[in-house]
Amino acid sequence: MANFVPVDEFDLVIFGGTGDLAQRKLLPAMYHRVADGQITGDSRIIAASRGDISRDEYLHSVEQSLRSNLPDGEFRDDHWANLRERIHYARCDALAPDQWTALVELLGGHDDRVRVAYLATAPALFGPIAQGLRDNGLVTASSRIVLEKPLGHDYASASEINNQVGACFAENQIYRIDHYLGKETVQNLLALRFANSLFEPLWRRGSIDHVQITVAEDLGVEGRVEYYDKIGALRDMVQNHLMQLVCLVAMEAPSSLHHDSVRDEKIKVLRALRPITGDKLRSNTVRAQYKAGAINGATVPGYIDELGGIESTTETFVALKLEIDNWRWSNVPFYVRTGKRLPAKHSEIVIDFQDVPHSIFPEQRFEVQSNRLTIRLQPDEGVKLSVMAKEPGPGSFNLRPVALDLSFEEAFGIRYPDAYERLLMEVLRGNPALFMRRDEVEAAWHWIDTIIAGWEETKHKVETYVAGSWGPAGASSMLDRDGRVWQPEV
Ligand code: BG6
Repeated sequence: MANFVPVDEFDLVIFGGTGDLAQRKLLPAMYHRVADGQITGDSRIIAASRGDISRDEYLHSVEQSLRSNLPDGEFRDDHWANLRERIHYARCDALAPDQWTALVELLGGHDDRVRVAYLATAPALFGPIAQGLRDNGLVTASSRIVLEKPLGHDYASASEINNQVGACFAENQIYRIDHYLGKETVQNLLALRFANSLFEPLWRRGSIDHVQITVAEDLGVEGRVEYYDKIGALRDMVQNHLMQLVCLVAMEAPSSLHHDSVRDEKIKVLRALRPITGDKLRSNTVRAQYKAGAINGATVPGYIDELGGIESTTETFVALKLEIDNWRWSNVPFYVRTGKRLPAKHSEIVIDFQDVPHSIFPEQRFEVQSNRLTIRLQPDEGVKLSVMAKEPGPGSFNLRPVALDLSFEEAFGIRYPDAYERLLMEVLRGNPALFMRRDEVEAAWHWIDTIIAGWEETKHKVETYVAGSWGPAGASSMLDRDGRVWQPEV
């Protein structure tokens, strides 16, 4: 059973409190923490936004969105009553110096408690909000600031935001979100690697043939098309989520779970990534955009149709072959891919071990296959190890691949909390281990910028793929050239 330790009294100010992230993720996350009794005392959630609305109007909108966003049967009047009385609304225009009064008044007299400013706004506002908090005397010793992604759109813009926020908050007060780090199975990677002695001797070149990471979504860009068209899959998913997964798979064992121990190891991986330039752009990168197709029997429009027919070369799918220049991973490629409008929401990490050096078995229906460790991130979180076994029966000696399959939900029998529940509690507790340090974000951008510049310079082809397929032909050819195939065969 999960053990919920209550957090100290706090004020959580959500800038962008009327926005999509607040309504869809942050407030439902706080609802669950309230329901589990983790939020106690007079802790408050203060939504700050430009809208001229009353507290009652805001509460009404939160109730509506909780009722529609929580899974069936989870909305309960008693939990809502508890959450409701904690929620306040402050009209605040970050860019207007005279528009901070309501917030200053609400926070007045509470300087001694944990104060978190959660910036669920456009990144262009991160600097001005940090400055507004400082200029209005709202930054206390126990203040923290949370920056949602995207943290800029390249190295230069990320570094500028970091400078602006860094002028008002110390680095240990800044929490840069990558919500993948809050996912239970992503944290389980640490448990799998470092709480089991079985894997470590094999977790390297010589035993592992290659690693694959797939983060597939069946959804398209839908309502976010305007934002997404300026960003694309490489910036939206690879720079943060996929690179963090690569780091957690590839990093050396940290000396402890202390936030800087873990982050020191992750940054070494980012620095060891070989830049993809020149001819490697053609062989090691694939970008593509979805055309109309069908998912689960329903027809879906193409990306350009969603854009309103405007021409665009923004990629909705990326596949990359990464090479890590260090002893552990020399000649062990990491293939990563992510895309929208793929057949299903399905994310997993596959560790493909080397083939047996020599097969003693006669040729047969199932050839001896390499062992494969699959870490399923979503849905149905779990771990699967494929091994070869003898088919039961007298007479012949036939082999067949079988899986040792562990579903975490079945094993632990509890609801898997959303990543934001965990991340919000970590901020309130003051533990930045699951957040990105400045150098990590900037190193990731630095590596991604090289690819973007290369794509622009060489006018890198944007392939197309049919919505509902596993991506463009180029992604399969990339592995085919290396004599490998993508997993999963979902
Ligand atoms: C976000 C991206 O960071 O992650 C979205 O901006 C994407 O485009 C989302 O859909 C995927 O997150 P999850 O948790 O649903 O896998």
